[in-house]
Amino acid sequence: MSTFLIVDDDHASCRTLRLHFHAQGYEAHIAHSAAQALAEQGRLAPDVIVLDIRMPGKSGLDTLPDFKRAFPGAHVIMITAFHDMESTIQAMQRGADDYIQKPIDLDELDAAVTKALRYAHSEAQGVLVGDAGADRGSMVGRSRVMKEVFKTIGLAASIRATILITGESGTGKELVARAIHRAGPNPSGPFVAINCAALVETLIESDMFGHEKGAFTGAVERQAGKFALAHRGTIFLDEVSELSHAIQAKLLRVLQEKEFLPLGAKAPQATDARVIAATNVDLAGRVQDGSFREDLYYRLQVVNVNLPPLRARKEDIPDLVHALLARIDREMRRHVRRVDPEVLRCFGAYDWPGNVRELENALMKAVVLSPGDIITLDALPAHIAQRTASACATAEPPAQGSLREIEKAHVQRVLETTGWHRGRACAVLGVSRPRLRRMIRQFALIPPPGAPTDEDDTHADGGGLHR
Ligand SMILES: Nc1ncnc2c1ncn2[C@@H]1O[C@H](COP(=O)(O)OP(=O)(O)OP(=O)(O)O)[C@@H](O)[C@H]1O
Ligand SMILES: [Mg+2]
Repeated sequence: MSTFLIVDDDHASCRTLRLHFHAQGYEAHIAHSAAQALAEQGRLAPDVIVLDIRMPGKSGLDTLPDFKRAFPGAHVIMITAFHDMESTIQAMQRGADDYIQKPIDLDELDAAVTKALRYAHSEAQGVLVGDAGADRGSMVGRSRVMKEVFKTIGLAASIRATILITGESGTGKELVARAIHRAGPNPSGPFVAINCAALVETLIESDMFGHEKGAFTGAVERQAGKFALAHRGTIFLDEVSELSHAIQAKLLRVLQEKEFLPLGAKAPQATDARVIAATNVDLAGRVQDGSFREDLYYRLQVVNVNLPPLRARKEDIPDLVHALLARIDREMRRHVRRVDPEVLRCFGAYDWPGNVRELENALMKAVVLSPGDIITLDALPAHIAQRTASACATAEPPAQGSLREIEKAHVQRVLETTGWHRGRACAVLGVSRPRLRRMIRQFALIPPPGAPTDEDDTHADGGGLHR
């Protein structure tokens, strides 16, 4: 039987989680502080530790390394109320195996537990490094996909593997590259960007690798290339798909041999720059049609971070608006703090082909056009306001109540119409029986007297389970 250790200063939250784990047949222990939990060292051998980040005294984040030492082999799932990138990255770097935000979605927790148990006692752990550093250029996003992105950044940053960042234009690829650099082993080292699409071939070669004096007409001085400048830092190859075959071959050599040859030089120079590449095209497709080398493709994407388009993570929009507005305010010395809810609704209905950059530009224009401290619909670019006007209008009536309330009301209605026949209710709702059971418990739905009982329900909530 798998053993769980729940560490959270919130007693109610602990009890709920323990019941939840008991119901699934796991053994679950509770501690209300890191110290209390660590005192169990030697007595308990948990497979999974559910650790709250925010606790009085030493935080879960600070004590994470202690937990990894005290309970080797245990998988740690961190819980936090925050939605920021830094704590996710830090948690992953200090050895957390997964990361879940409050309010806890039990399905998400179950998925994390399943994953943790699958890997339990495997030794693959990340390397520990220092703090992720400044909040400059911080990324926001609370969607599940962005949380996955933050986790990957945290895991990939400390190993110096080559990383390929993919995503449509304006999704934040460069921001991710900088975040990886900042979270890496040498955040104060250089971050050097090369736009592979911007330069002609001869220039790009000398730009990347440098040249000796007289290497070509006009090379009057010896010049160091960006690989040399990125020494002990990161080199960011933006739009890497645009490199010519000749440069692709040279880049492959750099990645394999860790050295490069400046134009006109006799001896190669060593480099230890970490390479991060980005592309907004389908690089695998380029490999298929022969315009991108297959071997280079595999060398580049040791780790792949894929940024989904904004339209696939619209739940990130409010946070993005908030963060981008703060940045715009700072740059423009304005105080536009508020956004008409109607504007947010329109943002949610629009498709954002230009992704976060388009949102940023729209907000920038709106700030300029807004006389006061609030952005209203008429300050939006016409094509966004117009195209979404009808969608906004029709979206109005059902936009009442949280998802949870609507879900609860719907589950209740279905249970009533099926006379609390759980099998039928599951079929109507399209959910599994354990899921329905959980919803009944979560929403505190009470069957009317005489309603059929669910044996498993009785079992899951039965008194014998409390330890
Ligand atoms: N998650 C995010 N949080 C805050 N700002 C973001 C986020 N994603 C993108 N941005 C902002 O949006 C703009 C575009 O991001 P970035 O330049 O990193 O995109 P990109 O994918 O490199 O685009 P392109 O393919 O056009 O080069 C930047 O100003 C960036 O700061
Ligand atoms: Mg870019």
